[in-house]
Amino acid sequence: MYQSKIAGLGSYVPENVVTNDDLSEIMDTNDAWIQERTGIKERRHIEKGDGNTTAVMGVKAAKIALERAEISKDDVDLIVFATLSPDYYFPGCGVQVQEMMDIHTCPALDVRNQCSGFIYAISVADQFIKTGMYKNILVIGSENHSGGLDFTDRGRSVSVIFGDGAGAAVLTRSNHIGQGILSTHLHSEGKHAKELSLEGPSTLHWVPEIIAENPQGDDIPYYPYMNGQFVFKNAIQRFSEVIMEGLKANGLEVKDIDMLIPHQANLRISQFIQQKLKLGDDKVYNNIQKYGNTTAASIPIALTEAWEEGKVKDGDIVVLAAFGSGFTWASAIIEW
Ligand code: UT7
Repeated sequence: MYQSKIAGLGSYVPENVVTNDDLSEIMDTNDAWIQERTGIKERRHIEKGDGNTTAVMGVKAAKIALERAEISKDDVDLIVFATLSPDYYFPGCGVQVQEMMDIHTCPALDVRNQCSGFIYAISVADQFIKTGMYKNILVIGSENHSGGLDFTDRGRSVSVIFGDGAGAAVLTRSNHIGQGILSTHLHSEGKHAKELSLEGPSTLHWVPEIIAENPQGDDIPYYPYMNGQFVFKNAIQRFSEVIMEGLKANGLEVKDIDMLIPHQANLRISQFIQQKLKLGDDKVYNNIQKYGNTTAASIPIALTEAWEEGKVKDGDIVVLAAFGSGFTWASAIIEW
């Protein structure tokens, strides 16, 4: 039995900064509301002509992660790509990354678990390393939200929250048992699938059908729907549960946490968990203020920045936790 560890991290966000004031110029919203309800000050949006796509941003983050891991692209055994905003309906972004980075014919798979996507992807990679099947796995979370949001007043409760960006981690076989990913914990509850969803275009809502049924263009299910308060309530419950589940599985307690990296859904959710667990400010990392909610990219971007700032150090117990559409939720307990 082997163990995996994170050998390198990287992130990339588009240059184009969109402030709350910028959004208030195109829809009925304001900086005070967005900051008070979400903590977000600004986010990044892909700009027409900047060349970025979900896969392209993923490649930019992945190159940094591989360089830091000192692992050649030729030694990548598997690519796992988490996104809810792939470049194509099919194939997935994993194969695009493989082609763009000129990686040999290694397997590539996409994970579709939205805000929990990166932890699910880490878990998949971890299992392949544990069994000894693969040694080096490139795990990417990337999202292009801005291309698919409703920036009219109708979509304001969703579109002010989400931002674009990518993060990546290289998982490799650890030489020291006890160091690396200690465990991952995954859950889902499909009965709430519609509470945070984008129904079409899909096999239930093909484009010609949608247009035929909605000649005026009203109620087209092209934009994400979120039952905000219901999602919020479930999030704070499940975040706490899955963190405690992970700690317990490893004989750890809350006081053992050196750094909690929560999925950046809403600063109020992170603060609620922090208070509930009675964690100090130096034990929870948030950067939603700068990037908004970048779904599958939020944890790898935050983890990369925390590591770059020296806030994640050798020997630390690092906890990743996420909740989102599905509903899905997950945690990973790592000894750095
Ligand atoms: O990452 C995946 C998981 N996602 C989450 O965990 C998100 C969970 N939910 C949330 O973060 C919050 O529910 C939101 C930030 C989405 C919304 O905050 P809220 O405190 O639940 O606000 P609300 O939806 O109850 O809306 C309150 C008011 C409404 O007006 P009335 O009916 O009170 O007059 C909304 O129309 O705020 C209004 N509103 C806005 N006002 C200005 C909604 N969106 C906006 C906006 N700007 N962008």
